[in-house]
Amino acid sequence: MKRQTFSLLLFFLCVFQYITAQTDLPTDYLSPAFHESRRQALRELLPEQSVAVIFSYPVRKFSNDVDYIYHANPDMYYFTGYREPHAVLLIFKESQTSTTGDNYKELFFVQERNEQAERWTGRRLGAEGVRKQLGIQNVYTGEEFADFPINFSAIKKVVTPGFPDDVADSRWDKADLFDLIQQFKTKSNYKETDHKQFDKNLFFHLTGQLREIKTPEELVLIRKAVEISCMGQNEVMKAVKPGMSELEIQGLHEFVHKKYGAEAVGYGSIVGSGENGCILHYMENTRTRVGNDLILMDVGAQYHGYTADVTRTIPANGTFSAEERAIYQLVYNAQEAAFEILKDGASFSEASDAAKEVIADGLLKLNIIKNKEDVSKYYPHGLLHHIGLDVHDRNFSKTMKQGMVITIEPGIYIPSDSDCDKKWWGIAVRIEDDVLIRKNDYELLSIYSPRKIEDIEKMIAQISALDDFVLPPLKSGEKKAF
Ligand code: GLY
Ligand code: MN
Ligand code: MN
Repeated sequence: MKRQTFSLLLFFLCVFQYITAQTDLPTDYLSPAFHESRRQALRELLPEQSVAVIFSYPVRKFSNDVDYIYHANPDMYYFTGYREPHAVLLIFKESQTSTTGDNYKELFFVQERNEQAERWTGRRLGAEGVRKQLGIQNVYTGEEFADFPINFSAIKKVVTPGFPDDVADSRWDKADLFDLIQQFKTKSNYKETDHKQFDKNLFFHLTGQLREIKTPEELVLIRKAVEISCMGQNEVMKAVKPGMSELEIQGLHEFVHKKYGAEAVGYGSIVGSGENGCILHYMENTRTRVGNDLILMDVGAQYHGYTADVTRTIPANGTFSAEERAIYQLVYNAQEAAFEILKDGASFSEASDAAKEVIADGLLKLNIIKNKEDVSKYYPHGLLHHIGLDVHDRNFSKTMKQGMVITIEPGIYIPSDSDCDKKWWGIAVRIEDDVLIRKNDYELLSIYSPRKIEDIEKMIAQISALDDFVLPPLKSGEKKAF
């Protein structure tokens, strides 16, 4: 290699290292090309002379002058990649000519850069950053929206999920979400009762058609979210002890998620031991000792916006009792029966019926119910739903399609005082897995965490790297001063 070429290479390497060391940010977000393709796909579905309008989610108050950690509106994120509040996106069916003669087919108004605000609450992209990082060209600040010459007389229909309610004021900005909504209503001559002109149903139908089929780029992120969730389940299985609290177990899951780069959970983590497992979306997780009960752990990592939804039910002491084993095996068999059905073209209800049939037959045999129709007393929820940017993701089709990602999650819940032998009371089991629908079958995405009784017991028997980390209870007054 020539000396000159070598020096040049070294120079570029140094520049690259300098840039990455400056940022050290994740580099695997969805690409601008993905978001552009989604906007174009929506445009193709829109009716003539219409515009799709998406406002960002509001910032919500947590306490006094503290806000909840901001979560972007999944639609806004899907179509732009923008993760900040105080923004509105307009996607027009036809190319527009403004009242001042400019042409555009989409407009994006975002919060402006603000040195003071950014020092307190974090970096902002601003219009220039959106242009550079997200590749959207017709981008302006929220302040420019009021006077922007949109020709609304040429628009017959506004396709929108609606206006966010409970909109908090921004302490920092002249044009916040509240202003954007007011200005939009004035510009478009909005009437609350005009459902034809302001069409919410159409928005959900069209975006359901798009969002229910995952692109390869989305699948990379979903796989990662699911894998991370499985790692959380496995590490908890290895570390679990009867003396642990539900909160402690929740913390271990979420620690493992963060270790692997998941920015959040996709829904409030559900860690219900014993009777608490019978509350389907139990999120308090306040029991201080799980004891020798089963623990139902429905915990999903969110990775770059996409959420997993994985449930494992495990015995805290490492061994399923005879009754727990019987119920667990029944739920497992129901899940297997549903798996058999999954493929492109299959009906959702066929899979649901197959799982329900197995549970009903099993509960009859165990004498827990007397009539098959009573199955819903102990299996009171549906079998499946789509996942993606929402844990219960947007969808449209009545049958399965290649590229859909759904959960399969049968469960049996037997609260105390149920009309069956006492020995079953307090047992709650859900097994929830995430699957990708393929042409002739499915792929089990959550294959990385055990589902079979013997595999779970083996995993629990393993040594845990967290064993030393699980500290004894802290008694006040025993801390040493430094
Ligand atoms: N984690 C909520 C659900 O399974 O639907
Ligand atoms: Mn689910
Ligand atoms: Mn779940």
